[in-house]
Amino acid sequence: MFLLTEEHLAVQQAARDFAQNELKPGVIERDSKALYPTEQVKKMAELGFLGMMTSPEYGGGGMDTLSYVLAMEEISKVDSSCSVIMSVNNSLVCWGIEKFGSEEQKRKYLPKLSSGEWIGSFCLSEPEAGSDATSQRTTAVDMGDHYVLNGTKNWITNGATSRVHLVIAQTNPELKHRGINCLIVESDWAGVTIGGKEDKLGIRSSDTTSIMYNDVKVPKENRIGDDGFGFKFAMMTLSGGRIGIASQALGIAAGAYELSVAYAQERSAFGKPIAQHQAIAFKLADMATEIEAARLMVYRSAWMKDQHMNFDQAAAMAKLYASDVAMRHTVEAVQIHGGYGFVKEYHVERLMRDAKITQIYEGTSEIQKIVISRNILNGELYVK
Ligand code: CAA
Repeated sequence: MFLLTEEHLAVQQAARDFAQNELKPGVIERDSKALYPTEQVKKMAELGFLGMMTSPEYGGGGMDTLSYVLAMEEISKVDSSCSVIMSVNNSLVCWGIEKFGSEEQKRKYLPKLSSGEWIGSFCLSEPEAGSDATSQRTTAVDMGDHYVLNGTKNWITNGATSRVHLVIAQTNPELKHRGINCLIVESDWAGVTIGGKEDKLGIRSSDTTSIMYNDVKVPKENRIGDDGFGFKFAMMTLSGGRIGIASQALGIAAGAYELSVAYAQERSAFGKPIAQHQAIAFKLADMATEIEAARLMVYRSAWMKDQHMNFDQAAAMAKLYASDVAMRHTVEAVQIHGGYGFVKEYHVERLMRDAKITQIYEGTSEIQKIVISRNILNGELYVK
């Protein structure tokens, strides 16, 4: 099913060239100093990586999810700060608006977002609503022709750089999650305040901030879908987003593996390259096997999405497994590199730090297990 077409191979090669030639040279400095990759994001926009799946009618690349996943994988081998910016813009913001937005919303926002002129963010998490996404404290009070938005969002990827926020907020608390809406908010509207950049363990150069909304007036036409559709919107959009994060995890694991194979052939100990020692060779074999399994799961979930099949369970499994593979094998990559693995110059310590977030954002591993186990108990014994 996953024999790549000429077009897929071309996208993969373009992303690989970009990552190796343009992201790799400065990635250590950007990570150490937590510098936002301004020039690199501009280049990603020029290359079409910020609106890959958006239809050409709205200024996007019109590509399938598999193409997007291939590009994410290559970019994540080198710089997951860049790939998370790309992932949120493509699979949460552009996809969410294109799939569920009104024609007017698509025409107004997608050309700017998919060209990368504007960047988007997905504002769901709150100080007290992370995994428990129904417990939204942010309120959107219905005032007839507009909403008044109040509340604080946390851990927002692209927080400081996004011009468009998809904000999840409670309108009718008595209806619980069925009272939640998603509003499109622009960062320069009165009452929007951006918090400071978080100092993170990994993906250090992407900007993660809190965002405060204080009596922000949001026109009714900026609500996505019918009144009360916001929670379902968030769940369905996040499900697609999980394919993006799964491909990020896959790329991190594959990047660490490729560096480890090269290092193990160059580095000698006890009279031969360390790759010739079974202790190392077996580690490489385990890495290769598990990465290949993760790759098949990630590609399949992308393919299912493109076939308009229900991909919730496949995406949750792909994210759960690929993020565990990324964590496990980046630790192994550091071990293979020995002392060199512990210093920044050899890249694997950064990949190890970056791997951790893939088990946390867009739903922790535990959340993926909730999604998977509920599907199982609903009779979905296997992905089909
Ligand atoms: N598709 C459609 N509808 C869905 C759905 C899906 N995938 N998942 C849930 N729903 C619907 C249910 O059918 C139900 O609807 P009705 O009551 O109308 O029938 C409703 O949503 C509530 O569903 P649950 O009862 O299953 O809700 P729950 O409270 O038990 O929570 C959960 C389910 C899976 C735990 C969910 O809360 C969840 O996914 N939490 C994690 C949130 C998350 O991923 N946060 C990440 C933040 S965003 C981020 O990280 C982006 C970034 O910046 C990188």
